[in-house]
Amino acid sequence: GNTPNGGPSSLTFPELRHQLAQRDAVAEGHEIQLVIRWGDPILADAPEHDPHRQTPEAQARQFGYNNDYLDFFPLPQGSRASDRGLLVVNHEYTNTNLMFPGLGSGREARARVTAGQAAVERAAHGLSVVELRKEGGRWSYVRDSRWNRRITAETPMRISGPAAGHPRLRTEEDPAGTRVRGTLNNCAGGNTPWGTVLTAEENFNLYFGGEAATAGPQAAAYRRYGILKDPVYGWGRHEPRFDLDRTPNEPNRFGWVVEFDPYDPQSVPVKRTALGRFKHEGATHAISADGRVVFYSGDDERFEYVYKFVTARPWTPGDPAANRDLLDAGTLHVARFEANGTMRWLPLVHGQGPLTEANGFASQAEVLIEARRAADLLGATPMDRPEDVEANPVTGRVYVMLTNNGSRKAEQVNAANPRPANIHGHIVEIIPPGAGTGRVDHAAEEARWGIFLAAGKPGIDPGTQYHRALSNEGWLSCPDNCAFDSKGRIWIATDGAPITSGVADGLYAADTVGPGRALTRLFYQAPAGAEVCGPCFTPDERTLFLAIQHPGEDTGSTFDRPTTRWPDFREGAPPRPSIIAIVRKDGSVIG
Ligand code: FEO
Ligand code: CA
Ligand code: CA
Ligand code: CA
Repeated sequence: GNTPNGGPSSLTFPELRHQLAQRDAVAEGHEIQLVIRWGDPILADAPEHDPHRQTPEAQARQFGYNNDYLDFFPLPQGSRASDRGLLVVNHEYTNTNLMFPGLGSGREARARVTAGQAAVERAAHGLSVVELRKEGGRWSYVRDSRWNRRITAETPMRISGPAAGHPRLRTEEDPAGTRVRGTLNNCAGGNTPWGTVLTAEENFNLYFGGEAATAGPQAAAYRRYGILKDPVYGWGRHEPRFDLDRTPNEPNRFGWVVEFDPYDPQSVPVKRTALGRFKHEGATHAISADGRVVFYSGDDERFEYVYKFVTARPWTPGDPAANRDLLDAGTLHVARFEANGTMRWLPLVHGQGPLTEANGFASQAEVLIEARRAADLLGATPMDRPEDVEANPVTGRVYVMLTNNGSRKAEQVNAANPRPANIHGHIVEIIPPGAGTGRVDHAAEEARWGIFLAAGKPGIDPGTQYHRALSNEGWLSCPDNCAFDSKGRIWIATDGAPITSGVADGLYAADTVGPGRALTRLFYQAPAGAEVCGPCFTPDERTLFLAIQHPGEDTGSTFDRPTTRWPDFREGAPPRPSIIAIVRKDGSVIG
C-alpha cells in the first residue's frame, strides 16, 4: 500500500509501506516490467533455460546469475536514445543451493558441487551485454542481436598498467603475467566519458584456497585479502587455477577494475592495475575542472578504505585513440577523514613516505598489488564497509555508501564512522573544492566532508540521522548502490535490511539540497531474500532499471524449497535473479 506524503520534498511519488513478501512492489502509479532473467538465451545459438539440466555450454550463452551493476548504453552509439540500447550487467556470484536441484543449502551445497556444476557456475559469473528495445511502452530484450555478448570466468582478458607482468602475476599458463582468464565477483562498476564500461572485482578471495593461504611467502598478503585455506567455493577441487597449492599466484590476477567497450562484442577486456587491487565495489567517474578524470572506488570490507584514481592526463572528447589507455597512468589516492570536517586524499606512490623498499614495496606494482597494506601505512581512515562512491552530477558533491559494520567497537569509532556496532550503515558526503560551481576540483588532495544520513529506524536505533519530517516508511538500512537523477536527487538501493530490520531491501529517494535534504522515501521493495542493485535511468528518465539480485537467499532456502519463486512463481522452478524496468503508467518522467 501507499501512504500520503508529508514534509518538503521535490519528489512526487506516493511512498510504499515497508513489508517483507514473496513479491516485489513499487509506488502507486508505476509499473514493473520484467526484462531478462537468469538463464534467458541471449546468444543466437543459445538453448532455452532448463534449470533441471543446466550445462556449462548453455549457461555461457544465457544470461548469468546474480545481476548486480547495470548500465544502459544508448543505440545508436553517441545518441541519447531511451527506447533502444545495450544493457551491460555484472553477474557477481552464484547461489549454488538455488541453482541446482538436490544440493541442500549454504556451504554444504557448495561442498557437493560436481566438476560440471562448478563449470556452470563459472559460466554464470562475469557479465552480459544485451540489446533492449522499448516498443508500445514495453521493454524486452533482443534475443539474437549482433551486440549480445557473454563474458564469463573463462573469457580471455589482458592485464595492463604498472602491475602487468610483475612476477607475482605470472603463472604457468601465463608466464608473462599479462593474460588472464575471466573476471570474478563483479559487484558494482561504472563507465567512462569515452564510452567504455568498468566492472569491479570485489570478493575474489572466495574462490581461491589451499595450504599457501596460511604458510609460505605470500600467506600474509593472502590473509590481508581474506583468502582462506578452505575457500567458500569448491572450484579448486576441480580446477587447478583455483587451488593455491598448484597455482599460487592466480589470486593476484583478481581484485582489479576491468574496462571494455560494450559496443564491440570482440573487444578484449583489460584489467587496469593502476586503479589498485582490493575488493572494489565499483568505480564511478567525475570529470575534474582541468579535464582529468577521477574514479571513485570503495573497498567493501569492514574497516577498509575509500579510494580515488586521478588520470595523469585530461581526456580528449571525440578521440578514442587518445583515451584508450588513459587508465594506465595516474595516481591512486586513499581517504583520510579528520574530525574537523576536512579530509585528505593520500597518494599511493612508490618511494613516497612509507611506501619504500624497507617496508616491502620494491615498485609501484607492489604498492598496487597490496594497496590495502600501503593504505594502512599512509594512515587512511578505516570505514564501515565502503560500497558505491558516486558524484552528484548537479552539485559535484560525492556520496559514500557505508553499508554497515557490526564489528566496530566503541574504542574504534572515528568522526566519519561514529557509531559502534553500526549494523545499519550511513552515507558520508564529500564536498570537493569548487562543488556547487561549474568547476569542481575532483582531483584535489583536500576536501570537506559531513554525514548525509545515518541509517536505521529512528526512535529504535541509536544515532540515526535523517530529515526531521521522515515518515514511518522512509527509514532505510544498509545503503549499497546509488544513482542520481538530473535534478540531483539521490536514489539509494539497500542490501541487508531483511537481516538487520525484518523489512525487504528497497530503493529510496531523497533531495540532497534544499528543504527536503535527506528526507528519504520508499519507492520500490524487493522480493524475499533479494537485494536491490544497479539503479540506472535511461537518458530521458522515463525508465528506471533495477537489478534484483539473489531472490530467495534466505537461511535454509533451496532449489527444491525456496522462500520465493520470484519472478516466475512456477511450481518446481527456482527463483531467478532478474532485471526489471520501472515506468510510470502515464509514461512521464520518474520522480
Ligand atoms: Fe557486492 Fe559490496 O557488495
Ligand atoms: Ca554492492
Ligand atoms: Ca550483496
Ligand atoms: Ca552489499
